[in-house]
Amino acid sequence: MNIAILTGAGISAESGLKTFRDSNGLWEGHDVMEVATPEGFARNPGLVLEFYNQRRRQLLEVQPNAAHLALAQLQATHNVHIITQNVDDLHERAGSKNVLHLHGELLKIRSSGNAIDIKHWGKDILVGDLCEKGYQWRPHIVWFGEAVPAMDEAIPIVAKADVVIIVGTSMQVYPAAGLMQYAPEHAQLYFVDPNPSLDSNARLTVIAEKAGTGVEKVIEMIGDF
Ligand code: APR
Repeated sequence: MNIAILTGAGISAESGLKTFRDSNGLWEGHDVMEVATPEGFARNPGLVLEFYNQRRRQLLEVQPNAAHLALAQLQATHNVHIITQNVDDLHERAGSKNVLHLHGELLKIRSSGNAIDIKHWGKDILVGDLCEKGYQWRPHIVWFGEAVPAMDEAIPIVAKADVVIIVGTSMQVYPAAGLMQYAPEHAQLYFVDPNPSLDSNARLTVIAEKAGTGVEKVIEMIGDF
């Protein structure tokens, strides 16, 4: 059975990482438009680089939670693909394979003048840290207004799914939020969120709980089918 799992910031909340829209629209005290747009980076590269330096340092301090681990175990019995909006590596650290990051990865950086120049990077980056072609290094993160190339890979995964599990996303940011529309008619959909933005229907089961307990419930519902 093919399972497509779509996750958002909520699945990492119980690991101690802040979501984007639960604290009156501020992300760790910053307006998302100030720290997650190309314009914000052009306006104040030092502020943006320091913001992601803080996020990177914080990520190295936290651990995957029960929900990440439960999803990783699911791949032992099913063909599981995880499509995440998160830039953390907690799915991978929980043991999940086939993880597709729609919005980039916090532990990677890329040249701001040569998009194919990407490398793993777990330390700070500062203004003046340049790639060999002389361009400023930037976080390998998809900022608002930038293309989401991974959608080309994500859509066929959802289109082949027998089950789609959506965990911890407010479904407010497109194109990611539109992915569930590609699920085939026969697919069963599950939505785990303590403050769900969707209602249950014939093919969608909403579990209004935190990921730490809600994901386990979905796995029990799926059973061995
Ligand atoms: N377990 C499950 N869900 C939770 C939990 C939890 N413990 N705590 C909060 N949530 C839910 C919230 O109710 C909310 O619906 O997680 C969701 C988080 O929504 P957002 O903060 O909007 O995060 P997300 O949907 O991932 O944002 C999408 O927006 O800012 C951009 O690129 C950024 O990837 C991000 C995208």
